Amino acid sequence: MDKLQITGGVRLTGETRISGAKNAALPILCAALLSAEPVHFSNVPALQDIRTLLALLAQMGVKVERDEAAGTLTLDASGLDNPVAPYERVKTMRASILVLGPLVARCGEARVSLPGGCAIGARPVDQHIKGLQSMGAQVNVEHGYIHAESPRLKGARLFTDMVTVTGTENLMMAACLADGETVIENAAREPEVVDLAKCLMAMGARISGAGTDVIRIQGVAALHGATHQIMPDRIETGTYLCAAAATGGDIRLTDTSSAYLDVVIDKLLDAGCEIDIERDAIRLRAPQRLTAVNLRTAPYPAFPTDMQAQFMAINCVADGTAVIRETIFENRFMHAVELQRLGADIRIDGNTAVVTGVARLEGATVMATDLRASAGLIIAGLVGEGETVIERIYHLDRGYEHLEQKLTALGAQVKRLA
Ligand code: UD1
Repeated sequence: MDKLQITGGVRLTGETRISGAKNAALPILCAALLSAEPVHFSNVPALQDIRTLLALLAQMGVKVERDEAAGTLTLDASGLDNPVAPYERVKTMRASILVLGPLVARCGEARVSLPGGCAIGARPVDQHIKGLQSMGAQVNVEHGYIHAESPRLKGARLFTDMVTVTGTENLMMAACLADGETVIENAAREPEVVDLAKCLMAMGARISGAGTDVIRIQGVAALHGATHQIMPDRIETGTYLCAAAATGGDIRLTDTSSAYLDVVIDKLLDAGCEIDIERDAIRLRAPQRLTAVNLRTAPYPAFPTDMQAQFMAINCVADGTAVIRETIFENRFMHAVELQRLGADIRIDGNTAVVTGVARLEGATVMATDLRASAGLIIAGLVGEGETVIERIYHLDRGYEHLEQKLTALGAQVKRLA
């Protein structure tokens, strides 16, 4: 199993390009299931999660043509004949649940494995199922599989009990081919939901309100082919900004946008960084030592849970004490014990972490437990004195394109160990 070796203590400087957003690409590639015509994509990141999804789509009968280096991809679901997502695929990537809505809408039937829990929490999909049932689907859960059937879904008013990103995306996709109007109340407002809506509209879907908490979809009989460019990854952007902030660095990130990063940028300013915003680039200059910043995760536009671990890492080496509250997932502080191995001062009480900055972190061997937790460990490793080895970096390969190359381009000393 690959590991990442980091020799810490180097300021990050220079420029790197931000990739297409994983969390936008995953639902958007599933949208191709809704059409019998080819859909062309650009800025598709070269990530393990994308490869997993493409293997799943291919198994269903979708023709996949990809130039991974160029970031281009064409999906042709005209031959879609196997609306099944088996456990072996879904267990490695929960986002596979995003095929459920499109499959029922297009094929009238789907068999999708229940994702099960994951390291950061139970993460049920009851809201996805409830929404499809409200649209008239017969849904049975048996032998670990969701079996949903409906000759044609019917438009409905849908209310989710909590804000769910993939739940909103699944139901929005399903509603595109339903009979009549669907209204999703309490919808997720994440920019990735908006990017998915843009792609669906390019395919002929009739959607309004994406980006607000009420989304309206007028069902149409069929969607056609289209071309769509995946938006930049706001979490990758935020992660590199944090890495530069923690190391006292000066970096410029290109092919990205500050538009979806307001709170994250605000927090970095509070921490003492200088930030220049350009049209599609962001430059950050960090002070010698950061100031601690409190934060509370919540659905967009509030502070993203996917940036919580990175900010915990920067608070470990900031002046003062920060209180971090995680309100989305019940078990998303696993990086804290690993950070403690590097010398961090963190106390956990339920969903609250109290982080008191220390003078320095020291390199050690640590274990990545989930994708964003690993990003927090990288940042700590870049700051720590001496050598940090991060085990189980397959978590990072799921979500960070060309991680070592990008960090190396910014001056970091990193090496992948097989
Ligand atoms: C998405 C993101 C993930 C991010 C998360 C929160 C993708 C592929 N993944 O995950 O990176 O961390 O949003 O911003 O976009 N819930 C239920 N029942 C449901 C659905 C959700 O109880 O049917 C709960 C979850 O357990 C969690 C909360 O609602 O506590 C929010 O989860 P959700 O927004 O659905 O997360 P994902 O869409 O899985």
